[in-house]
Amino acid sequence: ATERTLSIIKPDATNRNLTGKINAKFEEAGLRIIAQKRIHLTKAQAGKFYEVHAERPFYDELCEFMASAPVVAQVLEGEGAIAKNREVMGATNPADAAAGTIRAEFAQSVGENSVHGSDAPETAAAEIAFFFSGLELVG
Ligand code: CMP
Repeated sequence: ATERTLSIIKPDATNRNLTGKINAKFEEAGLRIIAQKRIHLTKAQAGKFYEVHAERPFYDELCEFMASAPVVAQVLEGEGAIAKNREVMGATNPADAAAGTIRAEFAQSVGENSVHGSDAPETAAAEIAFFFSGLELVG
């Protein structure tokens, strides 16, 4: 089925001017960017977005990092978009990411791993609503 998923191009990637190269990977995989905005999150906003990880040891570092520079939040649409996006991103840790994936090519570490993608339909819906209103999704 056609799905929508929330993607974030993270500060390590925007700092290195990689937005276009990462978007090309999504588009080459057949994902359509139906909404996109560049935003500099506050640490509190990053903390809210990653609330599910609040008890993890890396939570504070993760929130600091996500608020350290602008990110590009985007909605990707396509057949099986959630799984397809995760395939294009590659494993969370770039050391484990398959060749040709975004994280294999661009990520610097497990924390500075260039992109985020929703992991399931429920989280995708919640994460899309965190950044975008319905009017901003132009499929
Ligand atoms: P993401 O898909 O955005 O979801 C949660 C993020 O936490 C994950 O990508 C990683 O960037 C980050 N993360 C996971 N494990 C670690 C870790 N050990 N140290 C720092 N950050 C981590």
